[in-house]
Amino acid sequence: MDYNIVYCTTEKLHTPALVVGIYEDEKLSLSAQHIDKVSGHYLSKLITHGDFTGKIGQTLLLFALPGVESERVLLMGCGKKSEFNTNKLREAWLGTVKVLQKTGANRATACLLELKNEKQDSAQWARLIVETAEYALYHYDQTKSKKDTDSSKLEKISLLLEEVTLQPNIEQGITWGKAIGKGVKLARDLANLPGNICTPTYLADSACKVAQQYREQIYAQIINQDDMEKLGMGALLSVAKGSVEPPKFIILEYKGTKQDEQPIVLIGKGVTFDSGGISLKPADRMDEMKYDMSGAASVLGTIKACAELKLPIHMVGIIPSVENLPSGKANKPGDIVTSLDGKTIEVLNTDAEGRLILCDALTYSKRYHPKTVIDIATLTGACIIALGAHASGLLSNNQDLANQLIAAGEASGDRVWQLPLWEDYQSQLKSNFADIANVGGREAGTITAACFLARFTENLCWAHLDIAGTAWLGGKEKGATGRPVSLLTQYLIQCTQK
Ligand code: BES
Ligand code: MN
Ligand code: ZN
Repeated sequence: MDYNIVYCTTEKLHTPALVVGIYEDEKLSLSAQHIDKVSGHYLSKLITHGDFTGKIGQTLLLFALPGVESERVLLMGCGKKSEFNTNKLREAWLGTVKVLQKTGANRATACLLELKNEKQDSAQWARLIVETAEYALYHYDQTKSKKDTDSSKLEKISLLLEEVTLQPNIEQGITWGKAIGKGVKLARDLANLPGNICTPTYLADSACKVAQQYREQIYAQIINQDDMEKLGMGALLSVAKGSVEPPKFIILEYKGTKQDEQPIVLIGKGVTFDSGGISLKPADRMDEMKYDMSGAASVLGTIKACAELKLPIHMVGIIPSVENLPSGKANKPGDIVTSLDGKTIEVLNTDAEGRLILCDALTYSKRYHPKTVIDIATLTGACIIALGAHASGLLSNNQDLANQLIAAGEASGDRVWQLPLWEDYQSQLKSNFADIANVGGREAGTITAACFLARFTENLCWAHLDIAGTAWLGGKEKGATGRPVSLLTQYLIQCTQK
């Protein structure tokens, strides 16, 4: 999709489709007031007759309004004016784009910038508009035999701007939105693929493709099983050996600076299917465990967004990738394995495999002397119970880093919520037979999972994002969300602004 900025007054604007906001309480937005005036109070009448209330999510398509130059006017319900924020904008605009896509209009002009209040940053507002449109226009057909090739005529979305001074900010926002949109799309495409296609090998190939596409900036390296054995990644390999799919340890290095800065390392859990192993999961919704590589997908998506934006940072993406299956060679409860840093781990539950591959990746990351390490993982069902689908779990051994991620979440709308990483929980991981157990019982599952990882992050400035509840949607809308590409890219943009 193309995006641009237009300057014009609403009523004179000749466009195939004009989008205007209507509030539930104070009713007409500025642009809607203009349209109302020239159309003989068409909109006011509509509202008085109860045909449009302005509730969030409501839309109404009007064709050939008297006195209005635009062919179509699409009303977008915004809810209460005082409550209108970035979250509401996303909700209202998402549905509106889906309606636009089904009209005959090839271009739309959206009067959305005027809906921002003074507190909101105009670049972030524009970014959210573009990001949301890209999200709404996403369409999965990679594994459908018939590709319904773009029946939509929509080619361009213009943002109406009255304050010329804001132009550079809006342009910056559009640039961010487009780049993040691409990263989110890559993450969703990868995560939505089934486990029989998106294997560790497929992930490695995809990473190489991204590196190829941005060969000036990204360098890819794949470590295969033999080399992992030589290195001593015993924890990761113990998960992999239950499957015939060979594990891959994927490294992407992005260099957007000439200087030799210490890198920011992103580590993404890449379990391409998680059956639970010998501690087999129940059958219900087990298909969704193809999404257990969403952390990996978000790392690839974020690197892509950074490369698109040519961000002046040094970053390394690390993706430990395996398939977790039961077999005669699989890990068994009670098995003891030796991790890359030498600690022994008692595998009490083979379904707690994520931390087994992540601990070796965390140890490996130390060789880059990173400034910061952030791991992203669909790690615990408990996180879904705690936070649902609205926030990713955040745990960190450095409060400055945690604060930066919280701020990036607020700015991007891709939010996180912090949970404590207190020493007190460590006792739950005690093992009588190894240095540490891989599970800590029913209580505080998300925290004890992070506590496990914390044992491998001594001397690192580290944060863990549990995206079990946010990476995909279940039910009728089943599909990957591309989260937290937006959050991570925002965080990296922030890093360049300091
Ligand atoms: N990939 C799962 C976590 C998960 C489950 C994410 C459901 C999203 C939806 C992870 O590998 C896992 O199985 N975790 C176990 C840990 C337990 C055995 C301590 C869990 O959450 O049940
Ligand atoms: Mn598992
Ligand atoms: Zn898992």
